[in-house]
Amino acid sequence: MSLSSYFTIPLFLCLSSLHLVSPFPSFGGQIDYDYNYNYNYYERSCPRLRMIVQNGVWAAFKTDTRIAASLLRLHFHDCFVNGCDASILLDDTIDFRGEKNAFPNRNSARGYEVIDSIKADVEQACPSTVSCVDILTLAARESVILSGGPYYPLSFGRKDGFTASEKAANEQLPSPIEPLENITAKFTSKGLDMKDVVVLSGAHTIGFAQCFTFKRRLFDFKGTGKPDPTLESSALANLQGMCPNKDASNRNLAPLDSASTYRFDNAYYVNLVNGTGLLESDQALMRDPKTSAIVTAYSSNSYLFSADFASSMTKLSNLVFPTINNIAQVVRFHVHEQTSPNLFSYFVIIAFFLLMSLHRLACGGGRHPSPGFEGDSDDLGGHGSHDFPKTGGGSDD
Ligand SMILES: *[C@@H]1O[C@H](CO)[C@@H](O)[C@H](O)[C@H]1NC(C)=O
Ligand SMILES: *[C@@H]1O[C@H](CO)[C@@H](O)[C@H](O)[C@H]1NC(C)=O
Repeated sequence: MSLSSYFTIPLFLCLSSLHLVSPFPSFGGQIDYDYNYNYNYYERSCPRLRMIVQNGVWAAFKTDTRIAASLLRLHFHDCFVNGCDASILLDDTIDFRGEKNAFPNRNSARGYEVIDSIKADVEQACPSTVSCVDILTLAARESVILSGGPYYPLSFGRKDGFTASEKAANEQLPSPIEPLENITAKFTSKGLDMKDVVVLSGAHTIGFAQCFTFKRRLFDFKGTGKPDPTLESSALANLQGMCPNKDASNRNLAPLDSASTYRFDNAYYVNLVNGTGLLESDQALMRDPKTSAIVTAYSSNSYLFSADFASSMTKLSNLVFPTINNIAQVVRFHVHEQTSPNLFSYFVIIAFFLLMSLHRLACGGGRHPSPGFEGDSDDLGGHGSHDFPKTGGGSDD
């Protein structure tokens, strides 16, 4: 895969639609630091956007129900690392090691092809108009709705990032074996709070996790040589069957919500009350009095959960600059701006026009894990493989 065909062009397209890096000198230099989000952002420029995204998610969901959890998780993992900027879609380059291969994503993040395909449809209807990150954000919402979860309002106009950091993904995404305090601290650093931890963990009402992310609970919990005593006994036996105590079972999948695996409902919280939460980070929500009170409330009131999930998702989707003084992000945009008027930009444009007819417009690079890779997971959290998340989105870790 040549650099230009697989990386430069798609990246350029994603960026250009944002006007972040205008290759034209006359447009260059106007970087919009305050995002100007707006609910009607694409109303005129791409009126069919929502329908196109809906169709793309539906088509994927028809053959792979689990994709809903995967897209939700992809969105969470994107927004949680330096804000929502579609950086998770970028392949590694000679200049950076991206998020795709970070522990929480490698062999577990799924749905890249779905976003690529939607992006191609959107480009056809509204060329160079809609950012990849807005598409991913919309696809996550459609996934929630399609699974029976709540609609939530979204504003648009997010800009795509042009760089990604494996290190940032490893450091910032929550892990399923991390203590609740640590996970909460990660949320707090993004402007989210403890309630958001509980609410967004509810995304684990759909999707799957790989056995290695919770296996120590089944056989040797924290070096005790025994199972996690908080895990309800019939659930334990069931999970031991799915994840036998050998390495060969590491990538087997278990449903995050065994009561209603594909339905977006409040059963996840009922499970926690019953001691049948799958991940350590799930069940840990019952150990802290503040979080367990929220869990208990959601377990008996699905409307409350739906309403709170909707508002936490809107918050998550608006993490454009995760912290107020995110210097790194500002620098990044500045660097970006510097690239506008130079020769490289012209090269990119020329290459674009030359290759446009040959290449599909894509948001990421070419190296996607194969669809349906055995080890995927939907856990929101992060370390996929290991352990991740609680939070997030979807499910499939
Ligand atoms: C949790 O956070 C503390 C304080 O930052 C840190 O020392 C500890 O290693 C973290 N624990 C895990 C499991 O990440
Ligand atoms: C889980 O809890 C609900 C309500 O608290 C109860 O009705 C149900 O029987 C419990 N299920 C299991 C498997 O314990």
